[in-house]
Amino acid sequence: MPLETGVLLAGRYDLRALLGEGGSAQVFRAGDALLGREVAVKVMHAHVPESDRRRFLREVRTLARLTHPGVVPVLDLGEEHEGGRPFFTMPLLTGGPITALGPLEDAPGPLARFLTAAAFASRALHFVHAQGIVHRDLTPGNVLLDGAGLPRIMDFGLVALSEQTRHLTRSGVTLGTPAYMAPEQAKGAGVDARSDLYALGAVLYRVACGSPPFVGDSDQSVLYQHVYEAAPDPRELNPAIPDAVAQVLLALLAKRPERRPENGEVLAHLWALARRDVWTAHARGQYRGGRVRSGEHPDGPARVARLQEAWSVPLPGEVTWPAAVVGEGDLVAVGTRGGQLVLTHTSGRPYATFAARDEVTAPATFLGGHVLYGAWDGTLRRAELQGGAEVWRHQARAEFTGAPTVWADRVLAASRDGHLHALNLRTGELAWAYRTGGPLAASPVIWAGAALLCDENGWLHAIDARSGAPLWKVEVGTVHATPALLPTGPAEATLVVATWPGEVHALHLSAASGRAALSAAEPILWTYDLEDEVWASPAIARSALPASGPALPGGPDGEAARGPAGGHGVVVVAGWGGTVRALRLPDGEDLWSHALEGRVTASPVISGGLVYLASELGELAALDLGTGAVRWTRRERTGVQATPLAAGGALYVAFMDGTLRAYRDATPAWTAGGARDD
Ligand SMILES: Nc1ncnc2c1ncn2[C@@H]1O[C@H](COP(=O)(O)OP(=O)(O)O)[C@@H](O)[C@H]1O
Ligand SMILES: [Mg+2]
Repeated sequence: MPLETGVLLAGRYDLRALLGEGGSAQVFRAGDALLGREVAVKVMHAHVPESDRRRFLREVRTLARLTHPGVVPVLDLGEEHEGGRPFFTMPLLTGGPITALGPLEDAPGPLARFLTAAAFASRALHFVHAQGIVHRDLTPGNVLLDGAGLPRIMDFGLVALSEQTRHLTRSGVTLGTPAYMAPEQAKGAGVDARSDLYALGAVLYRVACGSPPFVGDSDQSVLYQHVYEAAPDPRELNPAIPDAVAQVLLALLAKRPERRPENGEVLAHLWALARRDVWTAHARGQYRGGRVRSGEHPDGPARVARLQEAWSVPLPGEVTWPAAVVGEGDLVAVGTRGGQLVLTHTSGRPYATFAARDEVTAPATFLGGHVLYGAWDGTLRRAELQGGAEVWRHQARAEFTGAPTVWADRVLAASRDGHLHALNLRTGELAWAYRTGGPLAASPVIWAGAALLCDENGWLHAIDARSGAPLWKVEVGTVHATPALLPTGPAEATLVVATWPGEVHALHLSAASGRAALSAAEPILWTYDLEDEVWASPAIARSALPASGPALPGGPDGEAARGPAGGHGVVVVAGWGGTVRALRLPDGEDLWSHALEGRVTASPVISGGLVYLASELGELAALDLGTGAVRWTRRERTGVQATPLAAGGALYVAFMDGTLRAYRDATPAWTAGGARDD
């Protein structure tokens, strides 16, 4: 008979809630009366076959040998007083199954949490394998997150010790969980460490996509697919999954064990490399288009207490709206009104200057050794960074002012001739052009297969990003600045459109059959009137609100924008008059506001929980995203209209008079621990 809550187990563990129940054991949340803390207790059912009891004890003893931060430890082993049922206790893991880290969002925060957890679990698995143990039942329910969001492997009930029999089957059924089972395990063939790598791949696939690689009506159908069918590309299920992550997932799901990454350590290394790739993609300044749709950069300055000018270089022309400083690797780039795209090393040393016949006010886009840049004469060029050779050039009927957005094998570029041009990335050939009916200043934002595009006649257009076919459109008001987007849940996102007359709309999108749609029930979450003109793009990020901050109302909307780390979306909008406001993403309520001296045309940039701002009077500031508290300010002699770049530990600002400056924190690393208190 199963145990019930309220029972005091072995005079020490007060069973408070049932957490899980399997064929042979129950898991409870329990109060440990002796140590005054909560633990998890796994208790064996009464009257189970002796083999199950042996398996249970083997699980405890296996677990007890595994001391690793990625494996849940055994705290205590005991026996129930009356029934003599064995039990063991473990720390209570409060983060839920590893699936809480997904589905992946195309934002640096969630991607970083996923990649950290994936590498951590891979290392833990490597440790387990190095002890000669194969887990054989890795599932989301057996990889739980602790309070810090790090995974712990548990449930060693099915472990195969390498020296023992390989065919642990019960009434002809292969033990394990079909959705995550390696092909060789599904076939009942030999299982080894690489079968666990496959299972971990299937678990992480589920985390990233929201569903496992294979689904079917029956276990047989799922097992058949594991053996004979290729896993669907995870990017098709969730377009937010970066290429580097998709490639590792697919490598883990290789049918033949020898094609998978060799071991958990190699796998951890692959996740680290994927992380570097993802970082670069986010930092490379696909300005507000493509992947960087939020205005958040992953790697701005870590500290700003002593952010100081590191270098300052003259540019061959003024830098004005809507230009933006973009960067990749060791290079930063910004266009000038003198008709040049200027590339500088992050050290300040000049790299190259690429010519156009007219002003280069459109933000450029880096692309693996090449750069794409548009100009006022309606040309869009792709050039090699090394040597500057032009790869192709496209001519539109009017100027390009929005950043080119790379999507799959195309570049999408909006021109003031009113068209969104889709060009073949390799050849520059026009694949299609979509006519909006109004001039375009902003870049397209891509989400769930749709290009979302605002024109200056007041319409937001959703276009199939692949074919250019119109999906839907809605009137929002004249827009000059690229909107910002934050995914808020599986197949859900909020698009924030800041209109030139000052109305800021938060639109609720859902991915109906893989294409972005306006949510039918409540398309407009809220509208906020800034009572000011807007030239800058909004920026959005998740932020853990201060404890004293206003509580969010309950209900589905509040829930929807709540991040895995308990943070809420915060949107930062800057009015031309100089007032910057932070609003809560779920309901548009004011969080804080800050007045800058001078007009604001440059878009706010978020990195590391700080908002970077720049005004036309030359005021620079870094504010705390959650509270608006000023962390750093500086006043330069000339103003800023171009969006700065916070990347590679520095802040890069291009001034209207044609100066590019880098600011870095001058605090020596050794004071970080508080060795000095000034
Ligand atoms: N240490 C723990 N902290 C929190 N929840 C736990 C813990 N251990 C187990 N659980 C919950 O109980 C479920 C079953 O535990 P598990 O050891 O996997 O047993 P089973 O053999 O029944 O799968 C888990 O999926 C999880 O939801
Ligand atoms: Mg389990």
